[in-house]
Amino acid sequence: MKEKTIINNPSHAAFDAFFQNIPVPIFLIDDERRICNVTRAARTFLSEPSKDASGRAFGDVLKCFHSLENPLGCGSGEHCKTCLIRGVVIDALDNGRPSSRIEAELTLGKEKICRSMVISVSPVELLGRRMALLHCEDITELKETKEALEAAKDNLTRAQAVARIGSWHLDIITNKLAWSDETLRIFGFDSGTQLSYEKFLEIVHPDDRDYVNNSWQAALQKQPYDIEHRIIVGGKIKWVREKAEVEFDNQGKPISGIGTVQEITGRKEQEKELHLLRQELMHVSRVTAMGELTAALAHELNQPLMAIMSNAQAAARFLNSKNPDLNEIREIIADIVADDRRASKVINKLRALLKKSEFEFSELDINDVIREVIPLVHSDIVIKSVSFDTYLNENMPPVHGDRIQLQQVLLNLVLNSLDAVSGVKLKRLFILTEQDGNGNAVVTVADTGKGINDEYMKRLFDPFFTTKKEGMGMGLAINKAIIEAHSGTIWAENVSGGGAAFSFSLPLSKRNRK
Ligand SMILES: Nc1ncnc2c1ncn2[C@@H]1O[C@H](COP(=O)(O)OP(=O)(O)OP(=O)(O)O)[C@@H](O)[C@H]1O
Ligand SMILES: [Mg+2]
Repeated sequence: MKEKTIINNPSHAAFDAFFQNIPVPIFLIDDERRICNVTRAARTFLSEPSKDASGRAFGDVLKCFHSLENPLGCGSGEHCKTCLIRGVVIDALDNGRPSSRIEAELTLGKEKICRSMVISVSPVELLGRRMALLHCEDITELKETKEALEAAKDNLTRAQAVARIGSWHLDIITNKLAWSDETLRIFGFDSGTQLSYEKFLEIVHPDDRDYVNNSWQAALQKQPYDIEHRIIVGGKIKWVREKAEVEFDNQGKPISGIGTVQEITGRKEQEKELHLLRQELMHVSRVTAMGELTAALAHELNQPLMAIMSNAQAAARFLNSKNPDLNEIREIIADIVADDRRASKVINKLRALLKKSEFEFSELDINDVIREVIPLVHSDIVIKSVSFDTYLNENMPPVHGDRIQLQQVLLNLVLNSLDAVSGVKLKRLFILTEQDGNGNAVVTVADTGKGINDEYMKRLFDPFFTTKKEGMGMGLAINKAIIEAHSGTIWAENVSGGGAAFSFSLPLSKRNRK
């Protein structure tokens, strides 16, 4: 039989053809430690690929393996991979023992290129002789890819640690959850912990658990997942922001989720502080204005009201007498009218009274004042999903003003705008600065809210005018007082397309006018 011939005579031409065409690098070494045959795929490993290697000493041909006859030819040692390979070839030939896989860096071929190889040697019986099949696997690319992958993973881990952003992957079918090192750190788990979605839910703050779970269930129905919630780690509350994307199969069934976790405890604390600060700022300003208003009202109105009352009582007495003196009564009524005028003047004085509060004027960049107010309202803007833009004229000369009071003005306007957009679909807010050509800086806070009813337009800046359930109607009255104390003006208009724009002008510092 043909096969038998091949097996019985390894030097046979048909066997050569068969062996050499095996698409794997293999050396066949006989019991005299000579090369018996070499596959084509292995030829490039030889120092002289074009020469027939058959019959030559294995070590001579494959220079990189050094001489099998001379164990010391390679400066051998127990860590020398060449010696190891030589050893396993001899072991296979002498004792018929197959080798384990040996990983080695070898210098190969004519060009002496260093490659990462895995060598394994198996003994075979051919023609009654024992031979060794040396099989080589070039894993250079595999190793490079593995190293590049490990480096990328390492970089990602370090980047996540720096950014304090972790990542996770959930196989929805098997409920297998994998967390990055940073996610493990944020959630306070040791690496190696068996993770699952339920395990994650356990550390979510009990008050936020339903919210988190509902958001995730919505994400499985193709809703966006971008949430902020609390977790409890080691008895302490931490805040995290989570974003995720869910992957669906062709039938629209969710199959996996990939997401990020960012620790935002610091930001949340800052926001809380800012919120308190803002509350204080508003409170102080309101209390100051209201205190002054009520005290002034009580004082200024008391006098004319008391005079009106006693005059009215006197007039009543006169009218009740038998012969009322009409001239006297006329004089009394004239006094009452005069007192009434005085009382209404008091109301007009209210605005002037507000001006009395102490201002600290300095040269200000109005754009800076705006930039200082933004962090105070940032969380409201985010919570209410309002898109916010500023268009600041960066060549604006300074204005002469009181920083805190102007911040207050902006704060009142922005809060009003946020209220105004609360019921509408398109929620946008802009702050613009420009020069008006008359030596004024003009600041505009515009929104896409419900706009201003014509009948309200004239009353907007009146104290206590409000259309809100919880409103006090003082925001714009205070703004008017502050802006007028800066020799500026404030006005409101509706914007075409919906929404309102509140603008105020402030004289630019004379020295810097352009
Ligand atoms: N951007 C706006 N869009 C539509 N209406 C507005 C806007 N800003 C103010 N208004 C109207 O002007 C009224 C008066 O505003 P103002 O700020 O003085 O008081 P308020 O916001 O009602 O209460 P608060 O004293 O809390 O500020 C509001 O109630 C509202 O009707
Ligand atoms: Mg208001």
